Amino acid sequence: MKLKESIESVRNSFRADSDPFPTDIQSVETLRIKYLGRKGLVAGLFSGMQNVPAKDRPEAGQLLNELKHEINALFDSNRNNTDHEISPDDFDYSLPGLKFPIGHIHPLQQTMDDIKTIFMDVGFSVAYGPEVDDDFHNFEALNFPPDHPARDMQDTFFINPKTVLRTHTSNVQIHLMEEQNPPLRYIVPGRVYRNEAISFKSYCLFHQVEGIYVDKHVTFADQKGILEYFVKRMFGANTKMRFRPSFFPFTEPSAEVDIWSHKRKQWLEILGCGMVDPNVFKSVNIDSNIWHGFAFGMGVERICMLKYDIDDIRLFYQGDMRFLGQF
Ligand code: DAH
Repeated sequence: MKLKESIESVRNSFRADSDPFPTDIQSVETLRIKYLGRKGLVAGLFSGMQNVPAKDRPEAGQLLNELKHEINALFDSNRNNTDHEISPDDFDYSLPGLKFPIGHIHPLQQTMDDIKTIFMDVGFSVAYGPEVDDDFHNFEALNFPPDHPARDMQDTFFINPKTVLRTHTSNVQIHLMEEQNPPLRYIVPGRVYRNEAISFKSYCLFHQVEGIYVDKHVTFADQKGILEYFVKRMFGANTKMRFRPSFFPFTEPSAEVDIWSHKRKQWLEILGCGMVDPNVFKSVNIDSNIWHGFAFGMGVERICMLKYDIDDIRLFYQGDMRFLGQF
């Protein structure tokens, strides 16, 4: 069989070429290409197989594989003997470096972390509460009247007639006041849900940070001081802001805070706030003759959109790296 002879001659040639086995990388590579390369001697033998008569093919195949293993084994056993000294010629210094993409914190999480830090610096602790809650904590204890529109299927996701996906983080005010005696001072970041048509300005879920501070001598002036401090740290010391009278079932009096946008030349609402309504204290058995408190709630998406001039809330939920990569 002619192939058999060819196999033997390649074997002898390899043994001669590899004794002694080269130690510098370049020669090892040359040797490897000569025998194992895509157009090397071993590949040449394999393509010679098609001329071997069918009856001899199994034997020829076996011999060929043995040769290949012998060659591979010698490269393997010499792997650590190769002298890896690298010369400047091995490099192309003009090639751009490799970039390893690494993940980073989502802009909403960054904004929530910023809000947390600002309030923790003035003594607030962080608490969390349930996203699936009962009517009592999400509405009733917060002094929502039975026929309030927020209780409508149109606006709220109901799990069943008495259980909802929370529509705001205010439900956690109730949990905190049920579980602990005042004084208490918390912020509550979390996800909330509303059954709204999705558009550039509303999404079916978003994030809020709630704040609640209950103590014996808490006044509306304290609230103004804290929220002014927050706004100036969040948006800059020169930010123009105002408190505007408003209404929420769970606070009395209530207000909303606006900041002035120089770019849009208009006031933009950033949060709701107020003094905890005595009815809310009553629902958690806190004596409103002794304890007073203020509460506030803000939308994290909204804050983030104003701060970074983002014009479509849906961007936060699409995972598009062209958007996320900018933060
Ligand atoms: N829960 C209100 C909302 O979802 C925000 C809010 C307003 C929270 C006033 C408060 C508050 O604690 O005092 O729109």
